[in-house]
Amino acid sequence: MTIKKVGILTGGGDCPGLNSVLYAIMLKAFDAGIECVGILRGWKGFLNNETIPLNVAEHDDLHTIGGTHLYTSRRNPFKPVSRAKTEEETETLKKQIAQELAKQFDVLGIDALIVIGGDDTLGVANAMYEYSKAKVVGCPKTIDNDLAGTHYTFGFWSAVQLASNALDNLTTTARSHQRVFVVEIMGRDAGFLTLYSGISSGADIILIPEHPFDLEKDVIEILKKRVNAGYKYHIIACSEGAYPKKESLIKDFKTISQETIENLPKDEFGNPKLQALNISQILVDELNLREDLKAEFQKNNIDFECRSVVLGHTMRAGTPNAFDRILGLRFGLAAMKLVLNGDFGKMVALQGNKIVNIPLSEGVKKKYIQSDNDKLELRDLLVRVRVKSKEIL
Ligand code: F6P
Repeated sequence: MTIKKVGILTGGGDCPGLNSVLYAIMLKAFDAGIECVGILRGWKGFLNNETIPLNVAEHDDLHTIGGTHLYTSRRNPFKPVSRAKTEEETETLKKQIAQELAKQFDVLGIDALIVIGGDDTLGVANAMYEYSKAKVVGCPKTIDNDLAGTHYTFGFWSAVQLASNALDNLTTTARSHQRVFVVEIMGRDAGFLTLYSGISSGADIILIPEHPFDLEKDVIEILKKRVNAGYKYHIIACSEGAYPKKESLIKDFKTISQETIENLPKDEFGNPKLQALNISQILVDELNLREDLKAEFQKNNIDFECRSVVLGHTMRAGTPNAFDRILGLRFGLAAMKLVLNGDFGKMVALQGNKIVNIPLSEGVKKKYIQSDNDKLELRDLLVRVRVKSKEIL
């Protein structure tokens, strides 16, 4: 079957570089004589037939603009599957939903669909391909960089830069007031954004979800050592998904318990909404209860003052940087080539400096920070060296 019209949708959290992908798809499609149609609001618009025409001539600078021209949502068409009681029921429901979704191709008048999203959005595309052989192609997107098949996702480096700038900037006010700042950084259950922006700006303590922390050892002891070594202000970069070790939670925390973490609300895909915990404020509250810590600061003639800053959506805001524009454009071109070659069920990915194609089933897998990582080594060095007295350094 020849492809005449291709649909494009963007799902999940928006991300700088989405429009760059879109623009390259439009360029290649136009060149190949294929019509593009934009499907609005991710899977929600796909189910509700919400589309807009995409005319390349009207969008000359689209690839430089942040966010997504197609809007987005976190709608999960496979949500009813979570209610299935047996494996058999799960399989039947998945098949039924995938077949219903595939029928939408005719309703929308599209011959193929390019899906740009993170693990949740691409998971839907993967199920559509597995259960109904729908003509789908995937493109990985997330500022979190937590997709296993690709070395980087577009949007990640723009977000790292924003967080790194914020951490750099906060040092002037931290220094002026001789304060402790706990800065909460996005990334759900993966620590890439916090680790990379933290070491980029030289944060004094970096807490990530992959390594549950011990409040006493990893935070309070370090702050005490630092203030005694002559350091007068302190920046803690803390992932929104960072959480304490069970023992530390029981032993050191007065304001939250294991139940607080377990009872967090979940999104349509079943992910806990970690932002709801507001771990940076919890840390500030806990540190403020520690008279021993305050006494150590006082001994050094510093009033203990601690503030939390949640970077939140400022990290996804604004224009993509040049790296993300180019990666987005490369992904868009490669995705459209897959469509032209009739090579469906695949996801485009960056491996080394090459754009490759991998099965969607591989692409949707998650990745986390591994222990044998030089970035972690740098984080630990930053802490180890900068608790020594300033005089001996
Ligand atoms: O997955 C991207 C991301 O920005 C996460 O880092 C963050 O936890 C989440 O999206 C926030 O989602 P929302 O914009 O729906 O609150």
